[in-house]
Amino acid sequence: SHIPVITIDGPTASGKGTVAHKVAERLGFHVLDSGALYRLTALAALRRGTELSDEHALAKIAERLPAKFVGGEIFLGTENVGHALRAEEVGNAASKIAALPAVRQALYGLQLAFREAPGLVADGRDMGTVIFPGAKLKIFLTASVAARAERRYKQLIGKGFPANMEGLLADLHSRDERDMNRAVAPLKPAEGAHILDTSDMTADQAVEAVLEWYRHA
Ligand code: C5P
Repeated sequence: SHIPVITIDGPTASGKGTVAHKVAERLGFHVLDSGALYRLTALAALRRGTELSDEHALAKIAERLPAKFVGGEIFLGTENVGHALRAEEVGNAASKIAALPAVRQALYGLQLAFREAPGLVADGRDMGTVIFPGAKLKIFLTASVAARAERRYKQLIGKGFPANMEGLLADLHSRDERDMNRAVAPLKPAEGAHILDTSDMTADQAVEAVLEWYRHA
């Protein structure tokens, strides 16, 4: 396809989501928050009491996800789940089911469909390596564990969720470990990706860096 794609991959709480949305806004592009698809599947599974190891049942849930993205809001059926999706419990469950090949396969076509004119900014773990390997620009966004824990802490508290630093650090370590060491679509920089360490950068500085690379891509 000739429709341009910018992929932004990176670990939990690296600031991918914020940067992806701001870059998309500047360029007038669509956004794919691929993590939300894994979170939606996890949320639906948790609510139904589906075992997080039941690959077949989880893939079915992913395939039939009644998900809608409406102007920054996310719906599961008629329920606005934008808030519920951000809970750490849901993120942890998402990271567990994301290791299952049938679940990833079930969400593959849905992700490709987000590529619409005039362009797409896709954020996740495997956007540049698996889903959009031919992307015009690929970014691997990182930040130190300390910087990411602090961002996640502020984000959770800001949204009214309980949070404690020690628990968050432990969560980040186990999520990094799982996301980087799984057999399918592990988190790693895509070939040709620009590495952007945002530990000492504001979101706007990161956005400028991405836009500058895009101008020369
Ligand atoms: O980015 P976010 O924290 O919302 O993603 C939740 C989980 O979904 C991640 O920990 C990761 O395991 C999984 N994920 C993935 N591939 C993606 C996006 C997210 O495996 N492209």
